[in-house]
Amino acid sequence: MLGQELVRLMGRRPEYDLLATGRDAEPRFSGGSCGYTRLDITDETAVERLFDDFEPDVVINAAAMTHVDACEADRELCWKVNADAVDSLVRCCRDHGARLLQISTDFVFDGQDGPYREDARPNPISYYGRSKLAGENNARGAGTDRWAIIRTVLVYGAPQADARSNFVLWVHSKLRAGEHIRVVTDQWRTPTWVVDLADAVERVVRFRKSGIYHVSGRELMSVHAFAHRIAKVAGLDASLIGEADKTTFSQPAERPEKTGFIILKAETELGFRPHDIETAIRQTLGLEAPGNPSA
Ligand SMILES: NC(=O)c1ccc[n+]([C@@H]2O[C@H](COP(=O)([O-])OP(=O)(O)OC[C@H]3O[C@@H](n4cnc5c(N)ncnc54)[C@H](OP(=O)(O)O)[C@@H]3O)[C@@H](O)[C@H]2O)c1
Repeated sequence: MLGQELVRLMGRRPEYDLLATGRDAEPRFSGGSCGYTRLDITDETAVERLFDDFEPDVVINAAAMTHVDACEADRELCWKVNADAVDSLVRCCRDHGARLLQISTDFVFDGQDGPYREDARPNPISYYGRSKLAGENNARGAGTDRWAIIRTVLVYGAPQADARSNFVLWVHSKLRAGEHIRVVTDQWRTPTWVVDLADAVERVVRFRKSGIYHVSGRELMSVHAFAHRIAKVAGLDASLIGEADKTTFSQPAERPEKTGFIILKAETELGFRPHDIETAIRQTLGLEAPGNPSA
C-alpha cells in the first residue's frame, strides 16, 4: 500500500529517478514515471546486484511481512523479511554511501502508555513487533546521519490492484452489503492516511533528515469509534457495528491496547500536516474528488 503511494507521489517529481521493486515479475501499479524491477529483499545476492546496477542515493524500505498473525505463525520468515533483510540493505547502503529510510510501526510499543513520542521506550508484545524493532536496530547500522526510521499507525487508503485491503475499505464494504461487524473498543490508535504517510516519507528524503519520526493522523480514537466515523462519512448504517474486545476473537498475536503517536516532531521538523480524518476517509472511498495531497 505505501509502496504504491510513494510511486504515485515521487514518480511525478522530476528531481527523483525512482526505481520501484516488488516480488512480482510485473509491477502492481500503472502510470507515473518510474522504473520497476523484481526483487525479493531476502535474496542478498539480488539486493547486491541491484545496488551495483542502480547505485541508489536513498533506499526506502516499505517492504515487510505485515500480517501480524502470520508473523506469529511463521516466525522464521517474519524475522528473515522484517529484521535480517534490513541488515543486508544496511550493508549495501554502507558500501554504496546510500541513506536508508526504514518504515516501522506502533507495534514496537506495548500499548500501556500511548500516545507515544519518538523517545518512548519500545517493548513489543507480538513477534511482528519484535521483528520490526530488530529491523529498526539494524537500520541504525547504516551510519551516522544515514538512517531514518519512520513509524506509523493503522494505515488506510485506496491502493491500486492487488494490494492488501485495509480497515476503511473493509468496514465500508461490509456495511454497504448490510452485514453486521464487530470491532474492538479496547484498542486505541491514531489512524493514518497513506497519502499523508507518503508525503512525510518524501519530506524526510527531501530534507535529508535522520533519526526517528512518528507519522500518523492527529486523532486518537478506539478502532470501534473509527468504524463509526467511516459509517458516518459514507452515510451507512452504524447500528451494524457491534462491540468487541480482546476476549472476543482468538487471534494468535497480542495487540497493544493504546498506541497512537504524538506527531509534534514531524510537524515542526518536516512541516507535516496530515489531512483531517473525515476528508481522508472520503477521498479513500472516492466520495470526494482528490485534491493536491501535499497542499
Ligand atoms: N498497514 C498498516 O496498518 C501499518 C501500520 C504500521 C506500520 N506499517 C508498516 O508500513 C510499511 C508498509 O506497509 P504497508 O501497509 O504498505 O503493507 P503492505 O501493503 O502489506 O506492503 C508490504 C509489501 O512488502 C512486500 N514484501 C513482503 N516480503 C517481501 C520480500 N521478501 N521482498 C520484497 N517485498 C516483500 C509485500 O509483497 P507481497 O504483496 O508480494 O506480499 C507487500 O507488497 C511496513 O513496514 C509496515 O510494517 C504498516
